[in-house]
Amino acid sequence: MGQQPEFDTSVPQTARIWNYWLGGKDNFPVDRAVGDQILEAFPAIVENARASRAFLARAVRYLAGEAGIRQFLDIGTGLPTANNTHQVAQSVAPESRIVYVDNDPIVLAHARALLTSTSQGATAYIDADLRDPESILKEAARTLDFTQPIAVMLMGILGHIEDDDQARSIVKRLVDAVPSGSYLTMNDGTDTSEEVVEAARIWNQSANPTYHLRSPDRIARFFDGLELVEPGVVSPPRWRPEPGPSGLPAEIDSFCGVGRKP
Ligand SMILES: C[S@@+](CC[C@H](N)C(=O)[O-])C[C@H]1O[C@@H](n2cnc3c(N)ncnc32)[C@H](O)[C@@H]1O
Repeated sequence: MGQQPEFDTSVPQTARIWNYWLGGKDNFPVDRAVGDQILEAFPAIVENARASRAFLARAVRYLAGEAGIRQFLDIGTGLPTANNTHQVAQSVAPESRIVYVDNDPIVLAHARALLTSTSQGATAYIDADLRDPESILKEAARTLDFTQPIAVMLMGILGHIEDDDQARSIVKRLVDAVPSGSYLTMNDGTDTSEEVVEAARIWNQSANPTYHLRSPDRIARFFDGLELVEPGVVSPPRWRPEPGPSGLPAEIDSFCGVGRKP
C-alpha cells in the first residue's frame, strides 16, 4: 500500500464519526466528542446510521441478484465495517468487481480490509474526491468495464456537496459515463425533523467536511431521467424491507432510492 498516509486526529472527520455510531473502533476522542454531542441532540442518529447501512446491503443484494449487476462503483465508501459492498455483492455473485472511492486518508489507511476479493472477482480502492469525477472515472476504468452495466453508489456523501447544481452535475457526469442498464443508488440525510436539523448544525460547527441536509424532493431530483426501482425514493427502512412484523417500518431522517439508466 506504499507509504502510510497522514491524518489529522485533532479535527473530527465524517468517516470516523460514522464509524463510532456504527459501533466501530476506528475513531479518536475528537470524533467521539462530536459524535456524543450530536447523539444528545439527535439520539436517533445511531438507528439512522445502522438503517442506512442495512439499506446499502439490501440495495447491493438487489443489484447483484434481481438486477444482474456485476460491477459497482462505491463513492464515499467509509471505513470498512460489516457487510461492505464487495462482501454483499460477491456473496450473491462471486465474480462481481467493486471499485471503492473515498478522500479521507484514514479510509485509505484501512483500505486493505476492502481489498479482500474472491478470486473470481476484483476489488480496488481509489483515493479521490467526488468533486473530481474525471479522475474517478479514469482510475475506475482499470478495474471496471465501462461498456457493461455498473451500479454507481453514492451513500451518505452527496450531503457533503452543498450546492444542488454542483451535486447534480457530478451525478450527471457519472451516470453519463455508464451504459444503459446501469444503476444509480443513493441515500442521504433529509431535513425532516427539528432534531436532525440541530444535529447538522452541531456537525457543521466542528466536523469536516460539512454536511447539508436536503428535502426528500431534492433527493428525488437526483434520479431525474432514470427509471426508479419500486418503491421509489423513500426512507431507507421502507425500501424493500426484509419480511418482518406487519405494517410499514418507521421512517428515519434520510431518503434513498435505486434508479436504472434506460
Ligand atoms: C457518512 S459516510 C458514509 C459511508 C458509507 N457509504 C455508508 O453508507 O455507510 C461518508 C463518506 O464519504 C466520504 N466523503 C465525504 N466527502 C467526500 C468527497 N468529496 N470525496 C470522496 N469521499 C468523500 C467520507 O470520507 C466518508 O467516508
